[in-house]
Amino acid sequence: MKSVIYITRKIPDALLRPYQDSFTFRMWDKENVPVPRDVLLREVAAADGVLCLITESIDREFLAAAQHLKIVANMAVGYDNIDVDAAREHGVVVTNTPDVLTETTADLTFALMMATARRIVEAADYIREGKWDYWAPYLLAGSDIHDKTIGIVGMGRIGEAVARRAKGFGMSILYHNRSRKNHAEQELGAFYSDFPELLQEADFVVSLVPLTEQTSEIFNQDAFKQMKSSAVFVNVSRGGTVDEQALYEALTSREIRAAGLDVFTNEPISPEHPLLGLDNVVCLPHIGSASAATRTSMIELCFDNLQAVMNGERVITPVN
Ligand code: DGY
Repeated sequence: MKSVIYITRKIPDALLRPYQDSFTFRMWDKENVPVPRDVLLREVAAADGVLCLITESIDREFLAAAQHLKIVANMAVGYDNIDVDAAREHGVVVTNTPDVLTETTADLTFALMMATARRIVEAADYIREGKWDYWAPYLLAGSDIHDKTIGIVGMGRIGEAVARRAKGFGMSILYHNRSRKNHAEQELGAFYSDFPELLQEADFVVSLVPLTEQTSEIFNQDAFKQMKSSAVFVNVSRGGTVDEQALYEALTSREIRAAGLDVFTNEPISPEHPLLGLDNVVCLPHIGSASAATRTSMIELCFDNLQAVMNGERVITPVN
């Protein structure tokens, strides 16, 4: 009998085809709207495996509704939407999608740094709004990226990929991480810093740290106060690492110069979100890994993990 796989969002049929001999697919039929909770709980009851997104909360209630679930394949590298301990207790394997999204997410991180430092969005709006009358010496003048200091908080795979780009830009690289990264130190000339030192020294403070109890709101009032008044803060990890009210205050009081944000505490944010009203902030709708090729690779990696579990083999990218 074929294993039943529930997919919590509509994905292209072409990606399902190679697996159709092994799996019976059931799938939520909307691409841009998450599956309602009651539907998810009903579907998981019959599923052997689930391919889910960060929009689904995989908690004790979900796991209790499952009857023969073997695996949850999360289409993301971050898995703060999953109660991994509870999954372990239920004997459910959890997998994520590291590696395949590293370079794409590092590209976006750099794009956000550059857009924010050089006021790209503001400048594009300026011309579109018909405000460009003359060239002027300090018109939309931003800050440089080359030769500045980047402070990377969370030196995982994506952190290292950002550090490689920073090296290419002639930046000095500081990083803070749970453990030292010899490779980054030797190959990229990155320096390990404690958190306060990084905050004080960096021109760009970049959050790439996973959201855990330890990292929840590490970027708080105290952290923003320690940053340079010229600092640019960039977050491409999880909104929960930031106290958004403290960030808003730091930006409006010019304690820091600007922020580039791909992630927020509660997503999606509404158009009335206070941070959207600030011209020194660039906000994006959580698109770190959003190149078409990378999103396809993430889905394929989920399927490979699902197939491994159904074949009784080791999964490729286990979390628990
Ligand atoms: C991730 O992979 O964790 C991203 O934030 C979602 O694409």
